[in-house]
Amino acid sequence: MCGIVGYAGTSSRVVDHDALDVLIEGLRRLEYRGYDSAGVAVVADGAIHSRKKAGKLANLENEIAEAPLPKSMTGIGHTRWATHGGPSDGNAHPHLADGGKLAMIHNGIIENFAGIKAELVAEGATFLSETDTEVAAALLGKLYTTEAAGDLTLAMQLAVARLEGAFTLLAVHEDHPGVVVAARRNSPLVLGLGDGENFLGSDVSGFIDFTRRAVELGQDQIVTITPDTHTITDFQGNPAEGKEFTVDWDAASAEKGGFASFMEKEIYDQPAAVADTLLGRSDANGRLTLDELRISPEELAKISKIVVLACGTSAYAGSVAKYAIESWCRIPVEVELSHEFRYREPIVDENTLIVSISQSGETMDTLMAVRYAKEQGAKTLSICNTNGSTIPRESDAALYTHAGPEIAVASTKAFLAQITATYLLGLYLAQLRGNLFQGQIKDILADLGKIPAKIQDILDRGEEIKSVARKMAQVPSVLFLGRHVGYPVAMEGALKLKEIAYIHAEGFAAGELKHGPIALIEQDQPVFVVVPSPRGRDSLHSKVVSNIQEVRARGANTLVIAESGDEDVRAYAEFVFYVPETPTLLMPLLTTVPLQLFACELASAKGYDVDQPRNLAKSVTVE
Ligand code: M6R
Repeated sequence: MCGIVGYAGTSSRVVDHDALDVLIEGLRRLEYRGYDSAGVAVVADGAIHSRKKAGKLANLENEIAEAPLPKSMTGIGHTRWATHGGPSDGNAHPHLADGGKLAMIHNGIIENFAGIKAELVAEGATFLSETDTEVAAALLGKLYTTEAAGDLTLAMQLAVARLEGAFTLLAVHEDHPGVVVAARRNSPLVLGLGDGENFLGSDVSGFIDFTRRAVELGQDQIVTITPDTHTITDFQGNPAEGKEFTVDWDAASAEKGGFASFMEKEIYDQPAAVADTLLGRSDANGRLTLDELRISPEELAKISKIVVLACGTSAYAGSVAKYAIESWCRIPVEVELSHEFRYREPIVDENTLIVSISQSGETMDTLMAVRYAKEQGAKTLSICNTNGSTIPRESDAALYTHAGPEIAVASTKAFLAQITATYLLGLYLAQLRGNLFQGQIKDILADLGKIPAKIQDILDRGEEIKSVARKMAQVPSVLFLGRHVGYPVAMEGALKLKEIAYIHAEGFAAGELKHGPIALIEQDQPVFVVVPSPRGRDSLHSKVVSNIQEVRARGANTLVIAESGDEDVRAYAEFVFYVPETPTLLMPLLTTVPLQLFACELASAKGYDVDQPRNLAKSVTVE
């Protein structure tokens, strides 16, 4: 949830960076992780210098402009999503300890902080904030001056031995210019390797402007960086290894590129996100080659059940996957919200394939659910967009989506890339298990190959739906209906509108309408209806057309997403947006797009910051 960046450089290298510039640039890129406050601490002239401010990063920059910091080669920076204590200046990180000589930043929740705080207070410590982080800083400061006798890395080892919960901690001390010490448990941290400078970040975007050489760190590890060295150990101080990788995107792909917002840019990135996710995963004969999967074909052939674990938008991608995988592979697929899964004694065993879906690869609820399933003997496969993240690293297999960095809090291109990856997985399983003929798989892959151009066609006609969105900026509530694969699309359309436009929005299975939700319909209530193809499954189309008539008869203002050529809906719709013809199971890759454009445009028309909606953070690393 919080964004963390650390830097150790030197003035003797050809390009000598000021630590503050590196930290601010890193925080700018990490701000999507939380924007309740921001702060930095640098080591310069034998002292710690810190600035912190509630609100967005711009507030911190103004603060620093008024009270400049000295040039420095070492520092830490933080952008916060508040957990313990509200979003105030005082609760902003860094927190100081050891009489102001030590500064610490933190992502996560320290569950046993109250007991440690009581102990430290009894010893005479005083605290300025309501945070668990200040307690960890005070503990580190105490251990540094006592048992660790001035060894900051050892002090970190001793401190983490006392902490429970999830944390990434970064600390600097005025006695050690050029040194940043970090520890991670259940919370993300990646190391960046430069030339005469090293970096730490919650993810690679924290240092992408400076290096693309990154090191994936393991669970329960401590890393100490200096300008020229990095030392990784476990929590007991035993040497440990990280896994080096090269970041396969550059800083430019995390820029707005002329669009008004990252969200809008990412919506327009979707033809590429789908095409890149398909790229190189099948041969000319339509044979899928998912070599990257680390579960053997024999083991995959044996699975008797799939359980998809995910949250939010990623869970809706899982719901789409259920329709496709069950249809193609005849394997039962359950889709469960990660945070519900492990609290109900789920039935999973070695013949269960757990498919986790996570853009960030760091969602704590999903990580914990995957760990639980692994303990029960299940095979775990991660569909993820973030190289070097925790969930794919801890899973038996990983299938990466290639959507590129997704910066806007509201997920768009990752969603389409996730759906694409689940289709590839479904087809691969069908190929292994012989559920589909090779020719059928080839045909479906060919249909998938046409999707990027069809998305582009929708985007090129985007103004049709954007103009409707602008006119609807003042509506208090919007409902979304869908059936079959249109149902998760309706849920996703509603989620987009809730999270960025702060409008009451609900998605329903259209068949459920008469069982309650229809009572919500009154004069002029806007209702989006995602209509299945008239060429699709028998009667599905006519049933949804009946649903449109039912809500319209009760005064609803009906907005319809239908397949090109579907004239049946025209008579009952105030507005129709047509998407190109495509097989029913692949339809969500198209029908979602106008709903994304609608939400983005409507929120922009209301003057909201669509990239950083209130109360939210991109990566939810607390339970
Ligand atoms: O990184 P993940 O895919 O695991 O994130 C899951 C959800 O937090 C995420 O999809 C969230 O619902 C988005 N804000 C939706 O736009």
